[in-house]
Amino acid sequence: MNAEYLQWIELDRAALSHNLKQFRALVGPKRKVLAMVKANAYGHGMSQVADLALAEGADWLGVHSLEEGVSLSDQGIRTPILISGYVALSDLEEAVVHGLRLTVYNPEAIERLGRLCQDRRLQAYVHIKLETGTNRQGVDPGKLGAMIEQLRLYPGIVLEGISSHFADIEDTTDHSYARRQLESFNRSLAELEKKGLRIPLRHMSCTAAAILFPETHFDMLRVGIGLYWLWPSKETYVSSLQQDRDPLELHPVLAWKARIAQVKSIPKGAFVGYGRSFRATRATRLAVIPIGYSDGYPRHLSNIAHVLIEGQRAPLRGRVAMNFITADITDIPAAGLEDPVVLIGRSQADQVSADMLAAWAGTINYEIVARLSPNIPRIVKESKAED
Ligand SMILES: Cc1ncc(COP(=O)(O)O)c(C=O)c1O
Repeated sequence: MNAEYLQWIELDRAALSHNLKQFRALVGPKRKVLAMVKANAYGHGMSQVADLALAEGADWLGVHSLEEGVSLSDQGIRTPILISGYVALSDLEEAVVHGLRLTVYNPEAIERLGRLCQDRRLQAYVHIKLETGTNRQGVDPGKLGAMIEQLRLYPGIVLEGISSHFADIEDTTDHSYARRQLESFNRSLAELEKKGLRIPLRHMSCTAAAILFPETHFDMLRVGIGLYWLWPSKETYVSSLQQDRDPLELHPVLAWKARIAQVKSIPKGAFVGYGRSFRATRATRLAVIPIGYSDGYPRHLSNIAHVLIEGQRAPLRGRVAMNFITADITDIPAAGLEDPVVLIGRSQADQVSADMLAAWAGTINYEIVARLSPNIPRIVKESKAED
């Protein structure tokens, strides 16, 4: 398959569909599920994943930037798209013209939007981001009332949603800080309701919150990492077991593969790669694989990781270079030129996961997948996996 590609990413439609159904089952049919496709759909390929997620039941899409939102809109997607990041004041018009939903927390943005809507007879849909303790984006609860008043000045702005984001729900099994954030969010919502304001879409749930705290589901989930199969952290998994929940059974959506570009034999004592960081302790057969750190394979994995060939582990020898890695195939005699190599994914009974690469590289699975180069071709596999 895909003989024309030297490297490619396979996306499993059935797996994405299955994972979406798991989250749908968590929240029931009435709440919305927003599929987070920012950062090139966590490296999976935004354009392809957006189409798949919508076809498989997502209600909303979430992106980080205006550019991502415009690109989906230009792709013909008319389902609501929420920009969760910052949009420059000078770019607000473009977002509104494309019908993109904006996350707002600065009075300057509201004023600019308001005038824009008046002058150009446009309608802008906004979601207030409330600061509950992450201290990233968000309006302080004490300033929420003033922001609502400001919004009322501009009939062209539709207050469609209110959101917040957890700071410490993935990294710990102690969720007291997350609970305090939730309480803060609830307090602000209650104050608004006392004043007769019920904002239609309240949302605070990322993957970990969706799994661990039904009370965070509100009107919409914003699910990222879980859609793609990956658990937010070990702690999230352990917490779900501690809560006596059946852990969600998620299926891997992505596999990253490449082909062997050269097979070579080196004698005992020969060095491999930049810096001569590996020296062969035996006569060694090497596979040169044409991917490197510019494709998103962490340089930190030099001499640490392994790839899979014919279901067997081939350890990396030498440094991960910009465009090449080199693996030891001495014990895989069948491996030959242009044979497929699995960098992330399954090969027969064995598997290399983004979690494994993350642990070896001292980072998180989010970073491993999000850094996969957008230049790698993405291929959707339509084969039907079991639910
Ligand atoms: C604002 C916001 N909502 C939702 C998510 C999705 O989080 P997760 O990938 O953990 O589901 C993210 C991810 O970083 C985010 O920044």
